[in-house]
Amino acid sequence: MTPLLVAVLASGSGSNLGSIIGAFACGQLRGSVKLVISNNSRSGAMRRAREAGISALHLSSKTHPDPGDRDRCMCAALEASGVNLICLAGYMKKLGPETLSRYSNRIINIHPALLPRHGGKGMYGERVHRAVLDAGDTETGATVHLVDEEYDQGPILTQRKVPVCPGDTAASLGARVLKVEHQLYVETLAAIQAGQIPLESDPCPGTGLGQGEWGEQAP
Ligand code: GRF
Repeated sequence: MTPLLVAVLASGSGSNLGSIIGAFACGQLRGSVKLVISNNSRSGAMRRAREAGISALHLSSKTHPDPGDRDRCMCAALEASGVNLICLAGYMKKLGPETLSRYSNRIINIHPALLPRHGGKGMYGERVHRAVLDAGDTETGATVHLVDEEYDQGPILTQRKVPVCPGDTAASLGARVLKVEHQLYVETLAAIQAGQIPLESDPCPGTGLGQGEWGEQAP
């Protein structure tokens, strides 16, 4: 089975990053987190990366005011680190066209709701859970999906439901969903590695990212 060589892009506390690092450490996943990129130099994600001895890159409008430069720098850092999968985990910025096209079908995201409900621009953090409560939904959940140019719109890979309980606040609901996210993200990565969730074939043949590289199933 080909090792998963992962870059995690995160802006916030990095608890999903922590669970992914833990899954590699305990052997649930084979491979490693090679690189963490954050637009927030003081994020928990950057701290967790440094504590785990993982390369951590701060990339933002402060470090690279020009969006095209930022995109090229991100793409170059990803290529230099040799990753074959990119995991967004609370990353608050859109990816640039160069990165999206170079890693097409190799970028996944986790969203704290059952997409297509409660996704899109501006739907992040507690706003998502408040929207679930305001809509009177009796269940919510977490979704892992492929990333494209639009927020939260790429094809869905996995979902898991979470009940909304009487008296829930956005914070209590968010905490319940986050626990499920930690499991779902790692289980999704394990299924990708095992070839149970085939990703589309590599748009850039010869880069070692082809579908048959992942699991024991031939393409
Ligand atoms: C998670 O709820 C994730 O679904 C969303 O952002 C949050 C990140 O949390 N995209 P953390 O930084 O992993 O703790």
